[in-house]
Amino acid sequence: MCGIVGYVGQKQALEVVVAGLRRLEYRGYDSAGVAVIADGALEVRKKAGKLANLESLIGTDPLPQSTTGIGHTRWATHGGPTDSNAHPHVSEDSSIAVIHNGIIENFAELREELTAAGVTLSSETDTEVAAHLLAATMPAAGGNLTDAMRMVCQRLEGAFTLVAIDKAQPDLVVAARRNSPLVVGLGEGENFVASDVSAFVDHTRNALELGQDQIVTITPSGVDVITFEGGPAEVTPFTVDWDAAAAEKGGFDLFMLKEIAEQPKAVADSLRGRFDADNRLQLDEMRLSDVDLRGITKVVVVACGTAFHAGMVAKYAVEHWTRIPVEVELASEFRYRDPIVGPDSLVIAISQSGETMDTLMALRHAKAQGARTLAICNTVGSTIPRECDAVLYTYAGPEIAVASTKAFLTQIVAAYLVGLYLAQVREQMSAADISDVMEDLKGMPQKVDLVLDTVEPVRAIARTFANSTSVLFIGRHVGYPVALEGALKLKELAYMHAEGFAAGELKHGPIALIEDGVPVVVILPSPSDRLHDKMISAIQEVRARGAVIIAIAEEGDEKILNFSDHVIRVPVTPSLMQPLVSTVPLQVFACEMATAKGHDVDQPRNLAKSVTVE
Ligand code: AGP
Repeated sequence: MCGIVGYVGQKQALEVVVAGLRRLEYRGYDSAGVAVIADGALEVRKKAGKLANLESLIGTDPLPQSTTGIGHTRWATHGGPTDSNAHPHVSEDSSIAVIHNGIIENFAELREELTAAGVTLSSETDTEVAAHLLAATMPAAGGNLTDAMRMVCQRLEGAFTLVAIDKAQPDLVVAARRNSPLVVGLGEGENFVASDVSAFVDHTRNALELGQDQIVTITPSGVDVITFEGGPAEVTPFTVDWDAAAAEKGGFDLFMLKEIAEQPKAVADSLRGRFDADNRLQLDEMRLSDVDLRGITKVVVVACGTAFHAGMVAKYAVEHWTRIPVEVELASEFRYRDPIVGPDSLVIAISQSGETMDTLMALRHAKAQGARTLAICNTVGSTIPRECDAVLYTYAGPEIAVASTKAFLTQIVAAYLVGLYLAQVREQMSAADISDVMEDLKGMPQKVDLVLDTVEPVRAIARTFANSTSVLFIGRHVGYPVALEGALKLKELAYMHAEGFAAGELKHGPIALIEDGVPVVVILPSPSDRLHDKMISAIQEVRARGAVIIAIAEEGDEKILNFSDHVIRVPVTPSLMQPLVSTVPLQVFACEMATAKGHDVDQPRNLAKSVTVE
């Protein structure tokens, strides 16, 4: 998820673009760059690191005056956060500059095609192929950037917002979108394109939202929108009624609410490009050989907090699919217990930030024992993936709120992809069975969307318990780590005692905690699941002692109505996929409870987004 700005008009483009990037810096901050057209030439400045690094560079190496420009803040996906990977990317003849948000899935074959044609690529990014393809297409497009963009977009697969300028056409900016956001700002004698309205809301509140597979050409006096096929396009005009600060949150009051809402896209993006037309896994970034993977006799997950809970969920699936034992270890405990790992172990470090010191130290200990290592990480180029043999990035985009939400769901998805890949390489599952699970996974973004559409009642339920002193969460099988995650969310946001249990453990002690009015959140499997009745029994045990039951139950589960005070519905899903839907109401529950208590939800007390100390 990167920040994109394009401008053409009467003002100094550099000022408009950099100010817009500052508004978008939350969307990506591992590198930044700008390009302007001046005196028939393209001028580009780009720098790794925060936007301030780019501004320092421009201070020492100024750009010429210009009224046409584009700018980008990067959240790396393909290629680490370096100067050369920073956007804009420029065609070999220095005529066209391009910035991009998204993932071009077929970039590898396009890179090969360009290399075979003698083009020298200077970065590791997928974006660069678009710059070279545009330049190569210009002759066929009669020198028209809009037509060239249209022809190139028809060759690209995946999710992309592309914005380009051409030194030979100084008064226009062309942008295209597929599965990635793009909005147009409509000014007086000036126009804007951006990844979200916060980039131009200081200049105009009149905007257009572009639809799928559309191309927009902006000039100082006009905006023209066509489809990838070249026909007329339907666009949605709107007026921005947010202020700039709210716009950074996409109109939500909190980054956490925005990130909860982004979960369907985060899950979809984390699946994108990782399977072929036959649903066979293709994890290009998995730099462990099939021989290595076939030699694995044990998987060990090391992680902290929410990432640890994602590992616990994954254990059930990976063991079921691969028949390899999976140990899930708190990273902070791992290296002090003299763990048994070696060259036949695959140690998976799960980390959103990629900088958690506990996890990094556990990883280093495992490497010292000769283990194969793989990172599941949301931050490209961070320390943990850099120190692993292989990496599978989650494409959740920046997670700003300290309480992890979309990272959790995408960590589960990534861990499932690793498990299925292991089963595929080791021929532990048939291609048909793997394909069935992939179809289940591909259906999950829509199911998470369904939960988001029906989650409003959770807020009212949360508010009724805002004065509780404790909330317990219980579940079985994959519902157990979901219970732990629900409890963690409530602890870190509402500063309330909360505890998750395996439901079968209640009678071995924790049930002594139950007394009149204690809220117990129960995560139920499908009514057809063999554990459903055991969960009903657990409910009866605690209800008999005064507990108030908040049930997370599947649509159509009628039996639960007789045993619950509140029922929150989730869509019917295969049991191993259920954490991807049952966690969402628990995120909203904790967020609403914290809001009711007047807490700083995005930055809770005592917590940091990345714990870089042991
Ligand atoms: C989760 O809401 C917390 N922010 C925390 O438990 C977090 O998951 C943990 O610190 C691990 O962080 P990481 O994923 O960046 O390694």
